[in-house]
Amino acid sequence: MIPAVMARLARPLLFVLPALLLALGATACGTQKAGTGVDHADQGGAHLFQQRCGGCHTLSFAATHGSASNISTRERTDGPNFNYRKECTLTRVLYALRNGGFSGAIMPQNIVVGPDAVAVAKFVVKYSGRQAPKVNTPGGGVCSSGTSSAGGQATPGG
Ligand code: HEC
Repeated sequence: MIPAVMARLARPLLFVLPALLLALGATACGTQKAGTGVDHADQGGAHLFQQRCGGCHTLSFAATHGSASNISTRERTDGPNFNYRKECTLTRVLYALRNGGFSGAIMPQNIVVGPDAVAVAKFVVKYSGRQAPKVNTPGGGVCSSGTSSAGGQATPGG
């Protein structure tokens, strides 16, 4: 009666196996890491973004998905998707950080301040809009000349 014994042993496996596969699949999705493909100097900004901004903003370089992906499940606090929305200047991002977005109505003010704010703002300027269509419209992927570099526009503390 060996086959019967084997069948009895194998049956629990039939239930365990799909669960295992599911678990593996889930971890595979979760392995996207903040800072993947990001320059060494911008790693700090990427991680700050993931921790402080990721709940409301999508940006693949920080492995975050906080923006609304579907209009019908959108929440008021969902911020712009920075995979598509290009931020061109540090000045504007630092303004948004101090002010709480451009309207000041939804995004909290001063989530990051000082050097952290500059690091996260540089990261946003450099890595936002990478999936935007290359058209020169406000919010499109292209900045007007001279404003797209992360270096020039810093006004730390100012
Ligand atoms: C509680 C949700 C929330 C958090 C957390 C949050 N934001 Fe926002 N953010 C928003 C919303 C909503 C808007 C758009 C509405 C507005 O501007 O008032 C916005 C707008 C912005 C804008 C202006 C975008 C544009 O071009 O219109 C920038 C830049 C920005 N956020 C950066 C950040 C950064 C960087 C962080 C982390 C330090 C952050 N946000 C954290 C919700 C959030």
